[in-house]
Amino acid sequence: MSEKIQAANEEDLKRLRKMLRKVAGRDLSAVKRRLEGGSAAAVEARVLDLACGDCREAEVLSDFAAELRGGEGAAAKLTGLDVRAREIADAARKFGKRRGPEDGRGQREFEFLVGDATKLDGHAELGGDFDLVFLRHQNYWNGARDWEQIFDHALSKLGEEGRLVITSYFDKEHALALEAIQRLGGELIGSEASPESRELATPGKSMDRHVAIFRRK
Ligand SMILES: C[S@@+](CC[C@H](N)C(=O)[O-])C[C@H]1O[C@@H](n2cnc3c(N)ncnc32)[C@H](O)[C@@H]1O
Repeated sequence: MSEKIQAANEEDLKRLRKMLRKVAGRDLSAVKRRLEGGSAAAVEARVLDLACGDCREAEVLSDFAAELRGGEGAAAKLTGLDVRAREIADAARKFGKRRGPEDGRGQREFEFLVGDATKLDGHAELGGDFDLVFLRHQNYWNGARDWEQIFDHALSKLGEEGRLVITSYFDKEHALALEAIQRLGGELIGSEASPESRELATPGKSMDRHVAIFRRK
């Protein structure tokens, strides 16, 4: 990867970090308070990143999930899943299996699986009760039926206080995904357009252009 692309990716991830905090807003402190109130605070935060590609957001997401558990010092485990074996191998190479605790962060555990997110029932090893299920650049336009199945599984993997977060490249695709997820049983908590989103070559397409957060109804 060229230095220029790498630098652009790093800036994208900084913006994503900011956008996650922004869209979670007051909900973040509400979730945090509820989780801290119970024994759940002692347990690691669990994140499921579906259709994750090479999952370059793995660290940003596990930090965000740890924050939901009370701060970066909390432990977090991220599971990333995608149908493309090469991308999953890249993610596993880049992030390894386990890090820390270090630099004020709690332990981070990463696991990457090749699999079809329309058939998550076939992945019993995943379990449920995730604190955060994430879909970066969901691709509703590229097969509405498949993506509705993926959204449905994503909602079903949430724990009681869990949150589903999606990001989208395009305005219209984001609007269609919001409508579909609400129809499938998601309650929209908030959706934010990113003011600094990096424009891509296709007109109207930019990185994490919109970010939305849901709970289960
Ligand atoms: C637009 S890309 C986004 C990739 C990554 N999340 C990102 O933001 O760079 C859509 C991703 O969905 C994955 N995908 C499509 N259908 C899938 C399915 N049924 N199960 C798992 N992954 C799928 C593709 O392999 C691809 O990596």
